[in-house]
Amino acid sequence: MDQTEIEKQAAADHAVQRIQDGMLLGLGSGSTSAYAIRRIGERVRQGLNVRGIPTSRHSEELAEAVGIPLTSFDEETRIDLTIDGADELTPQLQLIKGGGGAMLREKIVATASDRLVIIADSRKLVPALGKFQLPIEVLPFACPVVARWLRDLGGKPQLRSDADGKPVMTDQQNLVLDCDFGIIETPEELAAQLDRIPGLIAHGLFLRLASCAIVGRGTEILTIEREMERA
Ligand code: A5P
Repeated sequence: MDQTEIEKQAAADHAVQRIQDGMLLGLGSGSTSAYAIRRIGERVRQGLNVRGIPTSRHSEELAEAVGIPLTSFDEETRIDLTIDGADELTPQLQLIKGGGGAMLREKIVATASDRLVIIADSRKLVPALGKFQLPIEVLPFACPVVARWLRDLGGKPQLRSDADGKPVMTDQQNLVLDCDFGIIETPEELAAQLDRIPGLIAHGLFLRLASCAIVGRGTEILTIEREMERA
């Protein structure tokens, strides 16, 4: 296993230690979250009593395969703890997410959670967001006009496509624009501008949502805690 995978797994293992019996969990998406889901599955097989709400079809399939009982917002609307990955995170716990295209469900689950624990390898920790292009989920009907509005905001949007050149569709059958804004000096301001665009369904700026980040760095674990819990 290479160093990055070791760091991801170590971060995931540390986060899973925070799980307590009886919790309702949000199950994140991406390769780092997959380590956490597999570890939770092991603990469930050892007798841990938890249920999960997955943030993507892929995570749902993995959770089912490792034996985590699943539920949905039809039954529960408050999640105790969500463990999820990130594409970038700052020491202030500002995040870019959505590299896997799951940012809409991830944001819903994060917002419904009492605590959001972000797990990552050390490459993800950055002084400021923006090297990673911002993923934006867009209603197909509105995609060209949303792209125009993103350009008006100074972004360079690009339609996400697969290896065959076909547009990538999200779990909700929407499109993804990966938008280069350069280094994002004022993420709160940009998020507020994006939130006002009709047809833009979700963007990957996750601000004031993470309670904590657990980052694998070499053989160490770096933990960044939010000073104040969000309401
Ligand atoms: C999924 O849409 C993302 O938000 C992931 O959580 C993020 O891309 C991190 O993925 P990796 O853990 O695979 O780097």
